[in-house]
Amino acid sequence: MCGIIGIASNKSVSTNIINSLKKLEYRGYDSAGLATIYNNEINEKKCSGRVEELEKILFKNPTDGNLGIGHVRWATHGVPNIINAHPHSSDVVSVVHNGIIENSNELKKELESKGLNFKSQTDTEVITILITEALKKMTPLNAVFQTLQKLKGSFALGIIFKSHRDIIIGARRGSPLAVGYSKEENYLGSDSYALKSMTNKISYLDDGDLCILSKDKVEFYDFEQKKINKKVYILSDDKNTAEKGDYKNFMAKEIFEQPTTIKTCVNEYVDNLKKDINIYNFPIEPKKINKIVLVGCGTAYHSCIVAKYWFEEITSLDVEIDIASEFRYRKVKFNINNLYIFVSQSGETADTAAALELCKKNNVKTCSIVNSVESTIARNSDWVLPIHAGPEIGVASTKAFLGQLVVLYILSLKLGKTRNDINQTTYSTSITNLEKLPDSLKECLKTENRIQVMAKEFLDAKGSMFLGRGLSFPIALEGALKLKELSYLHAEGYPAGEMKHGPLALIEEGLPVIVIAPKDKYFEKTISNMQEVIARGGKILFITDHKKELINENIRFGIRVPTIDKLLTPILLTIPIQLLAYHVALLKNCDIDKPRNLAKSVTVE
Ligand code: F6R
Repeated sequence: MCGIIGIASNKSVSTNIINSLKKLEYRGYDSAGLATIYNNEINEKKCSGRVEELEKILFKNPTDGNLGIGHVRWATHGVPNIINAHPHSSDVVSVVHNGIIENSNELKKELESKGLNFKSQTDTEVITILITEALKKMTPLNAVFQTLQKLKGSFALGIIFKSHRDIIIGARRGSPLAVGYSKEENYLGSDSYALKSMTNKISYLDDGDLCILSKDKVEFYDFEQKKINKKVYILSDDKNTAEKGDYKNFMAKEIFEQPTTIKTCVNEYVDNLKKDINIYNFPIEPKKINKIVLVGCGTAYHSCIVAKYWFEEITSLDVEIDIASEFRYRKVKFNINNLYIFVSQSGETADTAAALELCKKNNVKTCSIVNSVESTIARNSDWVLPIHAGPEIGVASTKAFLGQLVVLYILSLKLGKTRNDINQTTYSTSITNLEKLPDSLKECLKTENRIQVMAKEFLDAKGSMFLGRGLSFPIALEGALKLKELSYLHAEGYPAGEMKHGPLALIEEGLPVIVIAPKDKYFEKTISNMQEVIARGGKILFITDHKKELINENIRFGIRVPTIDKLLTPILLTIPIQLLAYHVALLKNCDIDKPRNLAKSVTVE
């Protein structure tokens, strides 16, 4: 993870570095730092914690300089303190790094045996020392090329030099890196989002690429040190802004804008006059697809599980799902007739990107379902289906999850229809039902007041459990993930039918158990599983779309969502579990948008 920025300009850069770092904080917020070249010296300022702290330091003690680099850290090697914060500088060079240098221990030992000293516990400092040593004999460009050859692992680097105060060198292997162009100013950044307020003209480095930028020129080289040209992309204007408006935090804003983002998404894909879905140019002719393989991480993986149920219900296709960090190391049997679908909000998740890369190496067709269409995953896949959710800033994914679900559902309908697995009537009715989603989501949001009261039930809890069957099982997993990441309360998500195979042992008097039970074919079975929990003292919080009054003295709390097409119900059931995690975290005074130890974009493995 970590975010990096570099600016070469004809005016002072520290304010713009700070502003960009604030945008990059979703990549890490353990520490922050910057370095500029001023008065022929490298000026470094660092702090542990947030960019706000760095800003305070700069306010008291401003740093000038027309060229500089900055960093926000998500700690991998070494605790998140000021010494381990980036940049890592010597007298002659300063480096910011995103990624992991896997052979840093060997390199460190080698350098220490030559009498060279290290200040930090980071893997990055070996890069600083290697370049410092190389600079004694060669130019900055050659020193960087020579150093890169010694590194194993992944990196995006931004490097400045005391002796060459007008250039920044950037290099990429594994971790994303972009270059932005403007008049008399050029930029280096982990992603286009960080650069967007300064420019809409962007190029992306590919693996092995290196760039040298000054205020009026950018040159690119490939890993063989040959000069190359890069395509320039013009970024689109985002209709959805990344401002939180009157909301307390981004997560609240993102939960409450879901009716709107889902409406936009449905409108992008559905032709409501023709009752058809505008998805064309499948990378494999739909009737020839043998199997769908869905891959993602975390919340995006939960979308894949929901989609498996949908594809199996709506199409005749065989479906496999996998967690990206497992998929990339398994001995997968690739098949050119399979369609490999990668789900990712950021489009930068290292494991998902590596799993996609593996598919490309095996010459199979890939599709990505992403929020960020300019991302690595989107650019590397054969076919992209955007979710149109607008920037998601809260670390816990909310509106992107619903967007992923809607696109996956739409894709399953289109495939079902094109393969003649469903008839025209089912297809048209399903599209009509889909169009009702935004209004039903608005209704769901009205459960907030009740959920606020329900959240109090978690204040003294030691843990909690989320149960569901069928399409509600992945929603139970998602509920548990949201609660633990936001409120730091232990939570497990389980298929209700599995309880008696072990987890029932966890149930004790007063343990909050969230039972997600819409009136579907599993309803009675889930109720039986719930009785087993009640018999052992579990405190039941019940979420359903069942119209009947929930009269049961054993149910502590009931939340009802509107009735809709059964296949779409998991989308509605997601709102109460998002609100629940949000309100428990709020009661516990947790940092909602930036939960501890996490980052929005997971660009390390
Ligand atoms: C949880 C959450 C994460 C992400 C995961 C994948 O709320 O947001 O589990 O879903 O890190 O990220 P993307 O979707 O960007 O690949």
